[in-house]
Formats: sequence, C-alpha cells, structure tokens
Amino acid sequence: MALPQKDGFSSKFGIIAAAAGSAVGLGNIWRFPYITGENGGGAFLLIYIFFIIVIGIPVMLSEFVIGRRSQSNAMGSFKKLAPGTPWWLIGMMGIIAAFVILSFYSTVAGWTLEYIRLAFQNSFDGQDVTMLNQSFEEFTSGSFWPVLWQVIFMILTAGVVLAGVQKGIEKYTKILMPILLFMIIIVCFRSLTLPGSMKGLRFLFEPHFDKISFQGVLMALGQAAFSLSIGMGALITYGSYIRKDTPLLGTAVQVASVDTLIAILSGIMIFPALMALGQDPAAGPGLVFVTLPSIFQSMPGGQVFAIMFFILLAVAALTSTISVLEVVVAYMKEELNMSRKKATMIGGVSITILGVACTLSFGPLKDFQICGKTIFDIMNYISANVFLTFGALFIVLFTGWKLGKAEFLDELRQGGKINPVLANIIVFIIKYIAPIAVGAVAIGAFFIEGLT
Ligand code: TRP
Repeated sequence: MALPQKDGFSSKFGIIAAAAGSAVGLGNIWRFPYITGENGGGAFLLIYIFFIIVIGIPVMLSEFVIGRRSQSNAMGSFKKLAPGTPWWLIGMMGIIAAFVILSFYSTVAGWTLEYIRLAFQNSFDGQDVTMLNQSFEEFTSGSFWPVLWQVIFMILTAGVVLAGVQKGIEKYTKILMPILLFMIIIVCFRSLTLPGSMKGLRFLFEPHFDKISFQGVLMALGQAAFSLSIGMGALITYGSYIRKDTPLLGTAVQVASVDTLIAILSGIMIFPALMALGQDPAAGPGLVFVTLPSIFQSMPGGQVFAIMFFILLAVAALTSTISVLEVVVAYMKEELNMSRKKATMIGGVSITILGVACTLSFGPLKDFQICGKTIFDIMNYISANVFLTFGALFIVLFTGWKLGKAEFLDELRQGGKINPVLANIIVFIIKYIAPIAVGAVAIGAFFIEGLT
C-alpha cells in the first residue's frame, strides 16, 4: 500500500541537507569528543563506527521507509502500516524521547549562544585552561543567563519549525553545513600542529579494548544512534517529506558518512589540542567549551574564527533541534488535528519548561540528584542509552518482522534500483543482526553490569 506524496523537500539535495543537518550537531562536536574521552578513546571509536554501519544505516533506512511509505508522522506511521496493533507505542516512545532530548540539548545549545557573545567580546583572550574552565563553570552554574539563552534558542527553533518544512528546514542547512565542515578542517590543522599533539591522535585512534565495558559499548551504541538522529522517529517524520524519486539507500549512506566524518574530525580537532594543553580527556560536558577557545587563541585571527565557529556550531545545533521539535509538531498536527502554529507553541513551551530544569541542574538544582545523577545527566543518559537504543531495536523489529521484506524493498526501490544481493544483505541485517546486536548490548549493560 503506497500512499500519494504530501508536501515535502523540493530536491534530492534538500533531503540530504536536512537529514544531514539533523544528524550533524552538538552530538558530533560536543557530545562525541567528551563521551569518547570518558570511554578511553580508540577502542570506543572502533565500536562506534561498527554500530554506525551495522545498526545506524539499517535503522535510518527503516525510518525513511516507514515514513515515506506511510506519508505520516512518528506515531501515525505505525498506525497506518500496522492498524489495530500496539506498534504505535514505538511512536509514543519517540515523542517522549523528543521531549527528553530537546530538554538537555537546548541547555547546551544555549551555551553556544553565550560563547558567541564571549567570542565577540574577545573574552577568551589571555585565559589559560584553568581560567577557561572556571569561566565555563561560573557561567553554567548561574541561573539567569543560561536560562535566557536556552529560551532564545527554543524560540529560534520554534521559528524555523513554524515556517514549515520546505521553507524553513531545507533552506538553512544547504549553505551552512559545508562552511562548518570547512572550518572544522582548519581547526584540525591548528590542533595537529600544536606541540605534543601526537598523543591526542594516539588516544583517539589506538584501540585498547581492555578499557571497554558493556557500559562503554552501550554508550557507543547510544552515541551512534544519537548522532545519526535515529531511534525516535525524526527520520520517519523527515522520511514522510522525501520525494518518491529520491533513492533512500544512497541518502542514508551519504548522511551517515558525513555525520561520521564530522564526528571523527571533531575528535581530531579536540584530542590533539587537549593533550597538548595537558587537559583531562574525561573532563565531561565542558570539554569542548574549554578546549576550543584555547585552540582559537593560538590561531592568527583567532577571535574572528571563534566568532564564526560558535555561530556555525549554534546553527548546526539549530538544524538538529528543529528535527526533534518537528517530531512533536508533525504528530500534534496530523494526529491531534492542531494547526502548525498551535502545535509549535504547545510543544515548544512544554519542552522549554523541562529544559529549564536541565539548565538549572548545573546551578541551583545541582544537588537534586537521582542515583548520583543530576536532571541534566539523567536526560542525557536515558535519551541515548535507553530511548534511542530501544527505539532503534523496535524499529528494526518492526521493519524486519512486521512490515516485511516485500513492502520494505518495494519502498526502498522507489527512486533507484538496488542490487538484489545487497538488498538481501540489508534485509538480513535488519531482521537478524541489528536486533541481536542491540539486544545483546542492552541486556549486557542493564542486566549484567547494572545501571551506573
Ligand atoms: N543528531 C543530532 C546531533 O548529533 C541530535 C539530534 C537531532 C537527534 N535529532 C535527533 C538525536 C533525533 C536523536 C534523535 O546533534
């Protein structure tokens, strides 16, 4: 049952730009380096790349297929493709995940706005790592400014979502993502030419598997899902906007490649500088906000560079946050018959309220902890490692066992032929390999090692 096309992206490049815009964000530049740092480097990177290929691309394909087949949002798609069954619960979980992700993501996105301001004021100038660390902590533990920046960021997000898919989402990503990539490469060169930088490359690329636990493997899986924006229906929603003549496999491979490239480049940008500066790779969420300003200081024209870099980082974050909010808005619009405006308002405001709690958990709410984790930590941890991991699992189970091979391949083949051997391999991975791999990691981490 293939449905006629609703409004969507105007070009093939548009969807790649939008899906890549969703994928590339703080997950690559902020989260990837610090999670890799906390999990020992090289071995983590290898496991991460393994998951991108074996789980990431199959789940991304499944989401595109589910979305385009059903022409519907994260929840509606399951209702259409499997009416009268409880599979729509996956969509429900995705919508809850959108709230969880955006709440802490907008905290960090807000920080990027403050760092644009600091760069304009040339505030990093003359500050060493200790001082930069201190300023970061002073700023994040405050209340007024971090919350204000977060609210501003949410307003920006809502503004783009309000403008609608084609006019809003597609336009910005197309031009700005390539510029960001270019700047990252320049910062990589600077980082690599700092004295003592080789240690950082070794940290990132030399695998020491003895440092990895089930928890570490789960973190790699969670990070892979988070970075690709899979597991909660963002790409189902975008999938419903993809034109029928767009090849889904090519799109998924391109998006995953760009995303992984930018994550690895972020590692090359951060770790050599970090080791050269004698900073701790396991420094946590503040990592890039201290390391990047340090690198910029050692560059000619550092201030201009810092300004541009943080602006582009904020834009990359914005093209990600819109994809998360769009999940909620598309659901409310299509399932609850709300106008786009009303849905954006309700979604945006309620997420912001939750988000403020995350932001304040670096300051006034610091001591409000559950199992030794602050609200921010909990949201950050469960989004990737619980919601997206199980979301990814259920999505491949749905595609492999409920939707079935014939429907899946029929949709996949629209927009481009696929080699039959390759098609069989993809179906085999979706049906068996991906669910077993995700299941094993989840069971290992939660039931053998316990929640830590
Ligand atoms: N992938 C984005 C990043 O790396 C974050 C993101 C956007 C996301 N949309 C998502 C994560 C949907 C999970 C699900 O910054």
